[in-house]
Amino acid sequence: MAKFQAFRVFRENNEVVGRLDSLTVDDLDQGEVLIKTAYSAVNYKDALAGTGAGKILRHFPCNAGVDVSGTVVESQDKRFKEGDSVLVTGYEFGVDHDGGFSEYVRVPAEWVVPVPDSMSLFEAMAIGTAGFTVALCVQRLEDNNQSPELGQFIVTGATGGVGSIAVDIMSSLGYEVVALTGKSDSNDLLTNIGASHVLDRNILKLDGPPLEKGQWGGAIDNVGGDILAWLTKTTNPWGNIAAVGLAGGFKLNTTVMPFILRGVSLLGINSQGCPTNFRHHLWERLANDLAPKHLDKIVTKTVRLEDLPGVFENMLAGKTTGRTVVAIDPNE
Ligand SMILES: NC(=O)c1ccc[n+]([C@@H]2O[C@H](COP(=O)([O-])OP(=O)(O)OC[C@H]3O[C@@H](n4cnc5c(N)ncnc54)[C@H](OP(=O)(O)O)[C@@H]3O)[C@@H](O)[C@H]2O)c1
Repeated sequence: MAKFQAFRVFRENNEVVGRLDSLTVDDLDQGEVLIKTAYSAVNYKDALAGTGAGKILRHFPCNAGVDVSGTVVESQDKRFKEGDSVLVTGYEFGVDHDGGFSEYVRVPAEWVVPVPDSMSLFEAMAIGTAGFTVALCVQRLEDNNQSPELGQFIVTGATGGVGSIAVDIMSSLGYEVVALTGKSDSNDLLTNIGASHVLDRNILKLDGPPLEKGQWGGAIDNVGGDILAWLTKTTNPWGNIAAVGLAGGFKLNTTVMPFILRGVSLLGINSQGCPTNFRHHLWERLANDLAPKHLDKIVTKTVRLEDLPGVFENMLAGKTTGRTVVAIDPNE
């Protein structure tokens, strides 16, 4: 097979450097299914991996990108055949195995998910790891009896990939969504995708007592750190906080008071390790009852492989909004 392009990350002289490279299929990590990529997308984790700002990649060189959608070219596993529309997110993909910023990917069959019938390859990546993570949040919140009656639902890091899809899906499910953001110019975007209220994170007083007035029926938190600590203090009795991210810090400085006096629950969300059957179930929900309604507004950019370094830089600086899809097959 002819050579193809990939965004490959190297460790050279103790520095992590990402750039376009020409590869053959033989250069790719092993797996039973070879996929011709249509689209990938950029997640915060990819920006950390592609620049070396975070220790994400576990071997070098490695193609970055934790998301991919495309068409099966060949499969040594009976579950898939040439021409199938498939996607891959999570597991070791783009972490310890060549990922989705590549014209071809080769992965273990266990990682491959059929793209649901009503979803296009583009939509699969507009949703990607971000949307899948929101579906996992919803499932865990529902399992723990979250309901709109518990009060307003707050989404932090609301203009980000996970945040914007969370605003969309939670509002569609009947929640009155408060979008917490650091971007003063994002009011229109956030209300257009379902937020009832937009709250500026820069005006919050985060250093209050262990319990403050309850304000939130529940939360999806992409930020961590002081914001997550503040959420624990301000969530109503029996509310749930789904802890997704660390864009604002990984430390959590709170007390047991919200948990033992208000019955607040902190739900850990780990999309990467989600078991296969449950993963298929959540992708089916994303094509049905959890289908985002505003993907046209949530996808703010479609870029090519060569644009990735600029996207990473902006994302790490907190300047991106919504989802950035990477169009990899020039015919798509
Ligand atoms: N647990 C999981 O399975 C899982 C899955 C996917 C992602 N994640 C994590 O979830 C987070 C969001 O991922 P993403 O792909 O949606 O990233 P993203 O698109 O970059 O969104 C992150 C958002 O967080 C806010 N933010 C950025 N820097 C901040 C800071 N210093 N303090 C407070 N807020 C800040 C910004 O929103 P505003 O400007 O609107 O405030 C930003 O848009 C990341 O930490 C990522 O690693 C975890």
